Amino acid sequence: MAALVQQYLDQIRAEQIDLRDGAPASYIPELANVDPDGFGLSLSSSDGFVYESGDSALEFTIQSISKPFTYALALDELGQEAVDARIGVEPSGEAFNEISVDKVTKTPKNPMINAGAIAAVSLIPGADADERFDRIHQFYSACAGRSLDVDSGVYASEKATGNRNRAIAYMLASFGVLEGDPDEVLDVYFRQCSVKVTSTDLARMAATLARGGFNPLTGRRIVDANVVRRTLSVMVTCGMYDAAGDWVSAVGMPAKSGVGGGIVAVLPGQLGIGVYSPRLDSRGNSVRGVEVCRNLSSQLGLHFLTVSRESSATLRAVFDAGPGVRVYEVQGDLLFAGAEQVLRTAQQDSGRYDAAVLDVTRVDDIDDAARRMLTGMRAGLLAAGKEAFLVDPDGRLVPADRRDDYDGIVFRTVDQALEAARQLGAD
Ligand code: DON
Repeated sequence: MAALVQQYLDQIRAEQIDLRDGAPASYIPELANVDPDGFGLSLSSSDGFVYESGDSALEFTIQSISKPFTYALALDELGQEAVDARIGVEPSGEAFNEISVDKVTKTPKNPMINAGAIAAVSLIPGADADERFDRIHQFYSACAGRSLDVDSGVYASEKATGNRNRAIAYMLASFGVLEGDPDEVLDVYFRQCSVKVTSTDLARMAATLARGGFNPLTGRRIVDANVVRRTLSVMVTCGMYDAAGDWVSAVGMPAKSGVGGGIVAVLPGQLGIGVYSPRLDSRGNSVRGVEVCRNLSSQLGLHFLTVSRESSATLRAVFDAGPGVRVYEVQGDLLFAGAEQVLRTAQQDSGRYDAAVLDVTRVDDIDDAARRMLTGMRAGLLAAGKEAFLVDPDGRLVPADRRDDYDGIVFRTVDQALEAARQLGAD
């Protein structure tokens, strides 16, 4: 049941536990002091239900994962035209800390590299550094659904050693791209990179983007849907730096990594993912985090270009059909997120029935991940002391040539399944 989704996450995390390649970032000295083995994974459904695996409550610094959120805030506050005049949206193919601007416009190539991120900070309105940071901090906290803290040790450490970012900020000031005093802007940038999050915070922040700016946990609209669409676009093309093409092909989710070891990934309309493991590859991406995202995408069918043919509610109807029997009518094209919704609803209801009937008559198409989950639903129900029947006239879940193996379990009509459930109750 919903436990099945939990098992998938636990298994996908466990598969990478022996992967110890890479090393925590050390160019910010304080970052080298983390436990390199910390490993958390969280997934939030689009209605705000969170699955957690491993060290999902362990805090780490958000680092570059802050960049899409500050960019979104700048777009929300100033509008796209004003932001586009200062920051481009083209993938740079460069390292995150490259001292570079577009040759013609002299503006940073995109908001995901440091040059663009520092320019974005300078656009956030505020009389001084404190006011600017407060605005940013409130925005991140609203996306996460709780008030986030700052790691003062990491902040001080980056401030003391961040000469490369100083070079970038002064270069931008010289081109007239940076608003205000470069040192003040850098101070806010260092603070925003030092905001502490857990993998669950990242999953919730991702779910807010997945819902077009509506936080499903708090029920608050945080940011405009057009701003989110622009932000996710830039995450697709630039979020994983020079690994962007490989990432889009293999994982297919708008994402952003940080040198603190986090990765946030968004499946628009469906779910949000947060992963944490601080050992990094040469590009500054979490080694285990990248593998976990690859496997989540391939095993659960999460690539954003795997599209349903129609977007309709998965659960068409749920009703009691006699004492102790509850029917779940499913419709449309079923992918992971739809199947997760069915399993979770059936689990939450489980006190209300002795036998569940899953009716997939109106399902048009179903991918392998959703098929495995709905087939596994029966095992979960039996383990919980319940009975389970399936109405599957067109062989969506159980192909016609395997129907004999499921004699007495799979039926052509709901009435036949209900009759079987009643018989069982009478025995
Ligand atoms: O600007 C820096 O160096 C850091 N505070 C953030 C860099 C970062 O996370 C790059 N991402 N992989």
